[in-house]
Amino acid sequence: MMTPYHIPALLHPTIDGLNIKKDGVYVDVTFGGGGHSREILSRLGEDGKLFGFDQDEDAMKNVPDDKRFTFVRSNFCFLRNFLKYHNVEQVDGIIADLGVSFHHFDEEERGFSFRFDSDLDMRMNKQARLSASVVLNSYSEENLATVFYLYGEFHNSRRIAASIVKARNIQPITKTGELMDILKPFFLIIRLLLKCNSALFRPFRRLLV
Ligand SMILES: C[S@@+](CC[C@H](N)C(=O)[O-])C[C@H]1O[C@@H](n2cnc3c(N)ncnc32)[C@H](O)[C@@H]1O
Repeated sequence: MMTPYHIPALLHPTIDGLNIKKDGVYVDVTFGGGGHSREILSRLGEDGKLFGFDQDEDAMKNVPDDKRFTFVRSNFCFLRNFLKYHNVEQVDGIIADLGVSFHHFDEEERGFSFRFDSDLDMRMNKQARLSASVVLNSYSEENLATVFYLYGEFHNSRRIAASIVKARNIQPITKTGELMDILKPFFLIIRLLLKCNSALFRPFRRLLV
């Protein structure tokens, strides 16, 4: 059964960019709710082919019943291997809609959103070894600072990492609410300026990366 995924923004212009040939071979490397894939299928002819990749098993619920479509539950870094396996030497276009989907934010137990006080999971692939909680509780202070500096572009990444290590020395950080409490002092001024929580969202996103 289809799950209520969002309809991708700029759906038509994005797919227009693929310049779809009726008998072409296309790859949607971030299948998700299948919005882009469905639009591609609507433009393909009988002999066209579409491969949809997603590492999140939840995306499987959205796979269309269409013989031109093949779903691959995998990280798209293995794209080449899987296409080879399906005897595809060349493709006519690839689409990537990178990032987290609304589905991830809305699923409380996935731990992607600070709207809920849930376990700090944040794995897109539920079989992946590293959850956000494992990263926060086992990475060295230096590595945490690097994560926040490189991916979050925080100038205060060292201080954030130091606070995380200080807090986890008292007790492991396992809940989104606990992480929020540790991060709040760093983002209070920005939050007051923006009058919203969006600044706090950034460290969450960086952990995910
Ligand atoms: C923004 S959503 C895509 C939404 C999709 N375009 C649609 O129309 O519904 C991104 C999706 O890509 C998946 N994803 C992110 N990184 C991935 C990766 N490296 N390999 C495979 N899937 C990935 C996520 O699990 C998520 O379902």
